[in-house]
This record gives sequence, C-alpha cells and structure tokens, in this order.
Amino acid sequence: MRRTHAILSVLTAGALAAAAVLTLSPSANAATTLGSAASAKGKYFGTAAAAYKFSDSVYTGLLDREFTMVTPENEMKWDATEPSQNSFSYSSADTIVNRAKANGQRVRGHALAWHSQQPGWASSLSGTALRNAMVNHITNVATHYKGQLYAWDVVNEAFSDNGDGSRRSSNLQQTGNDWIEVAFKTARAADSTAKLCYNDYNTDGVNAKSTAIYNMVKDFLARGVPIDCVGFQSHINSASPLPSDYQANLQRFADLGVEVQITELDIAGSGTTQANTYANVVKACLAVTKCTGITVWGIRDSDSWRSGDTPLLFDNSGNPKAAYNSVISAFGATTSPSTSVSPSASTSSPPNTGGGCTATFSNNAWTGGFVTTVTVKAGSTALSGWKVGITLPSGAAITNSWSTTASGSSGAVTFSNVSYNGSVAAGASTSFGFQGTGSAPSGTASCTAS
Ligand code: XIL
Repeated sequence: MRRTHAILSVLTAGALAAAAVLTLSPSANAATTLGSAASAKGKYFGTAAAAYKFSDSVYTGLLDREFTMVTPENEMKWDATEPSQNSFSYSSADTIVNRAKANGQRVRGHALAWHSQQPGWASSLSGTALRNAMVNHITNVATHYKGQLYAWDVVNEAFSDNGDGSRRSSNLQQTGNDWIEVAFKTARAADSTAKLCYNDYNTDGVNAKSTAIYNMVKDFLARGVPIDCVGFQSHINSASPLPSDYQANLQRFADLGVEVQITELDIAGSGTTQANTYANVVKACLAVTKCTGITVWGIRDSDSWRSGDTPLLFDNSGNPKAAYNSVISAFGATTSPSTSVSPSASTSSPPNTGGGCTATFSNNAWTGGFVTTVTVKAGSTALSGWKVGITLPSGAAITNSWSTTASGSSGAVTFSNVSYNGSVAAGASTSFGFQGTGSAPSGTASCTAS
C-alpha cells in the first residue's frame, strides 16, 4: 500500500508503467526495505512508534522508509486516551495516525481493554461501574478511529501465566467472565471495519495459556462473538525462547479461521544468534497463509522498552544490524551490500550553503538502484518550509519517496517539505529520502527556505 501510494504521488505518467512492473513483480533489488521485502510476499512489516520521538530525524527516517504498518506504543492506551473519566484525549495518538496515513502506512490500534496502563480513576473502579466505564471507553475510542485502523487489539493480556489456562485476575475480570466478549461486541458496534484482535504474550508455542485462548476463540466463533485475529506479542529472550512449535501454533489458530499477526516482536541478543531467530519468525509467518504481518516493538535498540536486551533490528545509531539483513533474506529478498550492516560505507555529498538552509545527502547504491537520504539543516533562522534541488544522472528515475513531495522523477528534481517537516528550528535538521533505479545522484544539493 505504502509503496503504491508513494509511487503514485511522485511519478510522472511516463514512468508509471515501469513503476507498476516494479510494484507487481518486485525484483530482488526493489525489495530493499523491511516493508517492501514483506510486501513482495503479501505481508506487512510494522513497528511500534512513539509520537514524542517524531522530532528525531533518524527515527522518522527509518520509520518512513522501512515500515508499512504502525502501532502507537503507548498513545492509544486507556491512561492516554481517557485520563479523566469520559474526557478523551487523542492528540498524541492522532499525531501517529495522521502521520502514518500521510505516508501510506496502515495502523494497528493498541489496546482498548487491558489490566495495565489504566488511568487511576479506572483502576480504582469495580463491578458495574467499571464494566460501564470499559464499554464507554471502547465505544468512544473505537468511534473516534472508526474506519482508520487496520486492526484493534480489543483485549490485551487477559490470561494468566500460571500454567492452568485460567484468566488473569484483574479488576476487569472481576466484573464477570463475559468482559472479553462484551469488549469485542462493543468494538464491533463502534467500528465495523477494523479487524478485532485478541493479543497476548507467552502464547508463542502450544501451552496451557495459548490453548485456553485457542478454546476461547473457537467458542467465540461458534457463538458469533466478533473476533477476526489473534496477536502473538513474541517478546523473545532466554526466559521465553522461540518455541520449536511456533509455526504450528500460529497454524492451529489460523485453521480456526482467524488471521494471526505477530504484534510486538523483539528478540534479546545480538549477532548471528539473534539474526537466525528473527529469520525463523519470518519463515514461520511466511509458512502460514493467514499470518498477515509482523510488527517489531520499536525501531532502534535504544527505542526498546527492553533496551538492555538490544532486541531490535537497528542499533542505537540507526544502522541496520545483522538481524535486519536476515529478515530481508528470510522474506526472499536480496540485501544489497550497500544496505547491509554499515551504511557509513556509503557516499556523501558536500554541503551546499544556500538561502537559509543546507542540504546534504548520502546514497546506498547497488547495481541498478539506490536509496538516497537527504538531511535538511536550518541556518541561523528557523525554516517554515524548504525546497531541495538534486539533479539525477541520466537514466536514473525515482520510484518511491518519503517525507517529501518531488516535482518529477528524473533530471533536475525539486523536493519540497510535507506538512509535518516544513518547520525546522534554527540549527536543527530534518530528513527525507527517495529510492530510484539507475545510478545514484552525486554532486551537491541546493537548499532554499520557502
Ligand atoms: C510497553 C511499552 O513499550 C512501554 O513504553 C510502556 O512503558 C509499557 O508498555 N505488552 C504490550 C505493550 O501489550 O503495550 C507493552 O508496551 C509491552 C508488553
């Protein structure tokens, strides 16, 4: 979706036929991001995203380039969206949703009903008052995002880890065993288009907890309780290693008729061991037709809720790790040497000091294609908009761009800011990028304030 959308937004009609071929039959070189490698196999590749990091251009550069699905990491939780009872606050979550939509990315909503991250007023409620508050919460939040989300985690982590398949004891559970199906029915009544998911952890293999969830889903389907998908968080570490029956477990849920999604993937470790485990997760999803996609729980290791585990695909500086390359390969795509572990090996342009801003760019190039990342830096005066000029070599054509609007696809191209990155404080930077076929640009980029 994101590729097609972006391609349509930047290409001239003349180049459209070539781009369509690229989209429908991706060659090895076209699949050079997590999102495009997954798309080539009909899957999405997502990440958790945090709105407060959107001023970090390394973060947004990777978010925009690599991912086709976005999950707000905390911004849609009960404490964030309803800080006081019946008073709703959507600004941070809206920032993520609107930014994703502008980039052609889809969004997974997370999470409507959960024992954790409840606002103080809800965590002290019980009985009918809490049940009514939960229903009101779901109705309001799901209505606010009606028609805008790919899926909702309607209920999160409702089963216990004690090995007997029982429900977790929580204030929501104490309102009655039917709270989960009430949550799903309420979500469906508010939004008939989002897929409704049950999401949990330590459910990655066949065990008492996953079997209890399996039985619940089977029962819901038999009784017509709306449920469309099951999310497997897949937080993998030495205490919770990737089970050998991971794929078989995904498949048994898929065989019930629901979609399965890997929703919060992170894998503690480093190097080849970590890379191989990531590849095994991708292979399992690929082997299960109803596994529609994988979401990692953050972008760089430093963005992780468990940063000490270095569990993600990019290092603290935003460089792709070995695990990044193994994910691309597991999707059957080719990692070009230039997008592999060390982007610092790439070429860079000298800065051009123009009217109020400077633009520099770096290329990751391979035979027949390239990705160019451009940094726009404000001078001593803040920018409220900018334009960057880059001349592409003869025969080169842009096939995809992000965080910019391009005036054309070949020759001298002017790149303008989009709504969310036109304002740049004095001395601060923002970035955008584009992908193309042919040779990468060289020389200097011009930058003017607009
Ligand atoms: C985590 C976030 O990553 C943290 O920033 C926050 O402090 C706590 O929650 N299971 C879930 C996610 O469903 O919502 C959790 O996210 C991680 C575990």
